[in-house]
Amino acid sequence: MPELTCVGCGPGDPELLTVKAVNAIKNADVIMCPTSKEGKPSIALSVVSSLIDQDKKPEIVHLVFPMTKDSDILKNTWEKNSQIIAESSLSNKKVVYLTVGDPYLYSTWIYLHREISIKHPEIKIKVIPGIVSMFTFAAKVGISLAEGAEKMAVIPSCYDLSQVKEIAKNCDTLIFLKDGRYFDQVISLIREAGFSDDSIFAIGQDLDTDHEIVRKLTLGEVTQDTLTSKYFSIMVVKRV
Ligand SMILES: C[S@@+](CC[C@H](N)C(=O)[O-])C[C@H]1O[C@@H](n2cnc3c(N)ncnc32)[C@H](O)[C@@H]1O
Repeated sequence: MPELTCVGCGPGDPELLTVKAVNAIKNADVIMCPTSKEGKPSIALSVVSSLIDQDKKPEIVHLVFPMTKDSDILKNTWEKNSQIIAESSLSNKKVVYLTVGDPYLYSTWIYLHREISIKHPEIKIKVIPGIVSMFTFAAKVGISLAEGAEKMAVIPSCYDLSQVKEIAKNCDTLIFLKDGRYFDQVISLIREAGFSDDSIFAIGQDLDTDHEIVRKLTLGEVTQDTLTSKYFSIMVVKRV
């Protein structure tokens, strides 16, 4: 039976992959990786490049997923790329698809998996979980994301923010992913929802890379300079 494996690569440190993930990468005939533009390096591939068996020389295929909210473009991209992955798997090669963090948290894999399992039920799909970026971040800044009866919410900050205030009123910890460029708008909403100035505040950008930025302070200390402006950013705010 043809097989396809999706590997969660964690947020950036190659030592944060599971043994299962490393074995799948070492045994792969074909490694497929997402990138946002033609010719742009794949972040997921850069995480695992030191783990690839150079003697085996797997075929490396970059699949372009443009950063867009246009549903037609997205649908076409998922269809096209899932077909490329499926064809390779159907030729009985060991195909591995790489994704940053965990495959089931805001990953392109979710759409590819859906497409492939509908159109090619004959392909056996395996998913190897990865360490989620927010857990690496929590470990770096030493914040417990939830303890006891606390509730936490994970919110993508680059979409409609109209519910953020209501969610904030009902949670102890808020975790914002996807695009630091919207974090300033989010902070006003959190303050309006009643998070006090002494709330714990932490922000991270490009974790586990040479450009990593990690800051931990209080909500009251946050200024425009504290914020990040990149897509690969995380912000955590927690009531005290
Ligand atoms: C498309 S989502 C993928 C999430 C990923 N599947 C995970 O489990 O963490 C991309 C978002 O994850 C966060 N992220 C992932 N890796 C990161 C890193 N190394 N540094 C900072 N943020 C990261 C950022 O919020 C980024 O905008």
